[in-house]
Amino acid sequence: MRILVAGWHGQVARALSERSVVRDDVTAIAVGRPAFDLSSQPSIGRSLFGIEPDVIIKTATYTDVDGAEDNPDRARQENAIGAANLAADAARRGIPIIHLSTAQVFDGNQIKPYMDQDLAEPVNSYGLSKLAGERAVASANSKHLIVKTGWIYSPFGQNFVTTLLQRARTQANIDFVADQTALPTYSIHLADALLELAATATGQQDKSLFGTYHLAGAGCASGYDVATKVIQASADQSGLATSLRTISYKEVESRSRRPQHTCLDNTKVKEKFSIYMPNWQDGIEECIKRIL
Ligand SMILES: NC(=O)c1ccc[n+]([C@@H]2O[C@H](COP(=O)([O-])OP(=O)(O)OC[C@H]3O[C@@H](n4cnc5c(N)ncnc54)[C@H](OP(=O)(O)O)[C@@H]3O)[C@@H](O)[C@H]2O)c1
Repeated sequence: MRILVAGWHGQVARALSERSVVRDDVTAIAVGRPAFDLSSQPSIGRSLFGIEPDVIIKTATYTDVDGAEDNPDRARQENAIGAANLAADAARRGIPIIHLSTAQVFDGNQIKPYMDQDLAEPVNSYGLSKLAGERAVASANSKHLIVKTGWIYSPFGQNFVTTLLQRARTQANIDFVADQTALPTYSIHLADALLELAATATGQQDKSLFGTYHLAGAGCASGYDVATKVIQASADQSGLATSLRTISYKEVESRSRRPQHTCLDNTKVKEKFSIYMPNWQDGIEECIKRIL
């Protein structure tokens, strides 16, 4: 199975490249800027023509949530129009596409985890551009798997675990939000699940398997819960420690509005693909060990 991974330097793309090596049924070929640019239709066509993938996993995205408030046109261009161009080109060649999206398409007013069929009503420009991308991909390519996920952490790139460890080196006290929840997701666990999905999507004739899924670390956590776990694990491994204080998400200054609760229910992916995501805590120790 040849997988084109769109977006080579990103956290999920790097995890996919790493995890594909341990499977003997997969060759993952990652592409990214400048050779592959979602805003350039010819670069998309050249990549598909040159690689001839069996399936695409699209991780490439404009991910700057605050930047999207200042520049919604750019967010829309890359997250909706670029995604649609890739999905349509893939459809012309009969290639299925796995499109990564975000829990930030929900308004965050629901405390219980969101199901895949729950109404998406974004509260910021980033969420709007990602929702437009989901819809555009679904209408351009019937062989689509739209995969919403949550806060991604990984040993590479910049994420809340790497940022917290950096801050813990210099700050004695760090404030964390206790009344905003989401699903921390270890990029390595997500990559393994995506490779399973890709294997099932390739050559798939059962149209009922295509559609929208949630794939995130099992459980539900606040930023404070995650920070507590990270500091505990890093203290165990290196002695690095800091004290944490709780604040409300209303106290956080941000250029963009953020949904308050964005936990996701993974039931559908369990039922249809027998994919079970590990708990969100399970990757933290391994992730910290790799970072340290
Ligand atoms: N990170 C999270 O917490 C989170 C949460 C929920 C959902 N997701 C979703 O998961 C997916 C992967 O996230 P991630 O954390 O791996 O993202 P990431 O680390 O920010 O990487 C994004 C990648 O997209 C590439 N990219 C941006 N614009 C592009 C364009 N026009 N053409 C080609 N490549 C472009 C970037 O390339 P450059 O290196 O050239 O800038 C970068 O390599 C995204 O769809 C995101 O919406 C992420």
